[in-house]
Amino acid sequence: MVVESAIRLRAATEADADAIVALLRSVAAEGMLGIDAASLNPKEEAVRLAALELEHACALVTVHQSCVVGFAVGVRGLEPTTVHTATASLAVDPRWRRRGIGQLLLQGVRAWAMAAGLRRIGAGVARSNAAALALFHRAGYAVEGVQRDQLRIGDTFCDEVLFGLILLPAAEPK
Ligand SMILES: CC(C)(COP(=O)(O)OP(=O)(O)OC[C@H]1O[C@@H](n2cnc3c(N)ncnc32)[C@H](O)[C@@H]1OP(=O)(O)O)[C@@H](O)C(=O)NCCC(=O)NCCS
Repeated sequence: MVVESAIRLRAATEADADAIVALLRSVAAEGMLGIDAASLNPKEEAVRLAALELEHACALVTVHQSCVVGFAVGVRGLEPTTVHTATASLAVDPRWRRRGIGQLLLQGVRAWAMAAGLRRIGAGVARSNAAALALFHRAGYAVEGVQRDQLRIGDTFCDEVLFGLILLPAAEPK
C-alpha cells in the first residue's frame, strides 16, 4: 500500500492536543477502543505531550494539509523486567481509513522503538475489531495469546487478542 504523498508522519506536539482529542472522540464514538470520550481532555493531553520524553514514549501524528488524521503512541515498559518493551496503540480518523495511514503510524512506532534499542512491541486488540486485527497481522505482528473477557466495551465483555513483534537489531554495515 502506498500512502498518499500529501500525508505526513511527524512527532506530535502539545499544539496537536485539540486535534488529537477530537480524533480520539470520533473513534471512541465507534465503541471499538473502549475509550471513555468524557475522560478525554485537551489540556491534559497537551501537558502529557509537552512532558513526553522520547526515551520513555513516542507520540506520532499523521497530517494532511495541517489536519491531524491519525495518532499513535508507543509507551515503554517502566519496570526493569519490561523496559526493553513498548506497547503500541493507534487511531485513524474514520474518514481517512484504508489509505495506509495505520501502517505508516505503526512504521513510525517501530522506528522509534528500534532507535530506542527496544526488543519488542506489543499491542492488544478487541477480538471484534476486524480492522485492527488485520492491520497488526499485515504489519508482521504475531498473535501471542487471547485474554478472555479482558475488555469491557459498553455493556459487553470482549476478548483481547495480544499481538507482539520482536525487533531485530539492524545488520552491521559490512
Ligand atoms: C485499525 C485502524 C488503525 C486501521 O487504520 P487504517 O489507516 O485504515 O489502516 P491501513 O489503511 O494502513 O490498512 C493497512 C492494512 O490493514 C488491513 N485493514 C485495515 N483496515 C481493514 C478493514 N477494515 N478490514 C480488513 N482489513 C483491514 C488491510 O490489510 C490493510 O491493507 P489494504 O488496505 O492494502 O488491504 C483504524 O481502522 C482505526 O483507527 N480503528 C479504530 C481504532 C483502533 O481500532 N485502533 C487499534 C487498536 S490499538
